[in-house]
Amino acid sequence: MNRLVLGIETSCDETAIAVVKDGKHILSNVIASQIERHRPYGGVFPEVASREHTLAIVPVLRAALEEAGVTLEEIDLIAVAKEPGLIGSLLVGVNFAKGLALSQGIPLIGVHHVEAHIASALLGDESPEFPALGVIVSGGHTALVYLKNWFETELISHTIDDAVGEAFDKVAKILGLPYPGGPEIEKLAKRGDRGKFPFRSGKVKGRPWHFSLSGLKTSVMYALQKAPDSLPEDIAASFQHTVFQDISDKVIEIATLKGCRSLIFGGGVANSRTLREYFAQSKDRWKIFFPEGELALDNGAMIAAWGYHCFQKRGGGHPLTMDAVSRSGFGHA
Ligand code: KG4
Ligand code: ZN
Repeated sequence: MNRLVLGIETSCDETAIAVVKDGKHILSNVIASQIERHRPYGGVFPEVASREHTLAIVPVLRAALEEAGVTLEEIDLIAVAKEPGLIGSLLVGVNFAKGLALSQGIPLIGVHHVEAHIASALLGDESPEFPALGVIVSGGHTALVYLKNWFETELISHTIDDAVGEAFDKVAKILGLPYPGGPEIEKLAKRGDRGKFPFRSGKVKGRPWHFSLSGLKTSVMYALQKAPDSLPEDIAASFQHTVFQDISDKVIEIATLKGCRSLIFGGGVANSRTLREYFAQSKDRWKIFFPEGELALDNGAMIAAWGYHCFQKRGGGHPLTMDAVSRSGFGHA
């Protein structure tokens, strides 16, 4: 029994460590965000991210243990996000976790970051009913995943270019809004007319459920060039509506066709209150899981919870044989 799990997450621009008991109860969930450091670049600057992780990781570990009221000696299992992500950032967490595991003699398990976003639902009071559709919408990933159960999954579709959060960040930059752009666009869009610009979501030939968002970003740019006096709030509202309508159309179609009983959202964009409104009518048809607060961001608790379940199922590996992997498909590598 691995009662106390330490979860370490450094795949992008959050240095996050949590202590979770029995794969369910969060004792601490410390997140050091680097947003301020990346804001001048309008997006995550990978080299800066790695350096910030090396500075933050020890203080974040100390804070996570202290807040949980446990010592390192009491930790039974270490779970670390090992894929996918920025390789320099992943390596900081993975090597740190290996060092801790080896020096303390604690077992180690590497987990898939995108799977962990879906597994945030394990941390709530309610449990999903299967089959379920996982909807990952973050700064780095857009994926729809069919879950027969927690361990039998199939990637249904993904983006062929920009991730949803990335598209929000890029359009925000075009509109002169700060990074991260998602919350800024949502705020601005509240005052706008979402029908003003008839933008269209990208279509992927032969793959009706895939996503393509880079053309939409270009349409926003052209719209502004053609009519520089357009109200930014109308552009923001029209762009946001186009993206969320696209997501909800695909999710509803797939979930209906595949007989899903739950929809499980994960990733930073799932923070959007506006996105939730697109599924307000669907509450009677599916059990819907949106991660609350910090659980929508990259965090250590989801890594610990998912690591706990994966370890029960298949055990861990020897720390020295574990590698960080920058790009990896959805699966249980
Ligand atoms: O999951 P996350 O922390 O990062 C990755 O794992 O990639 O998500 C961050 C992304 C950013 O692109 C941010 O703009 C977007 O989530 N985001 C939003 C909202 N809040 C955060 N996008 C749209 N609407 C929001 N309210
Ligand atoms: Zn993420």
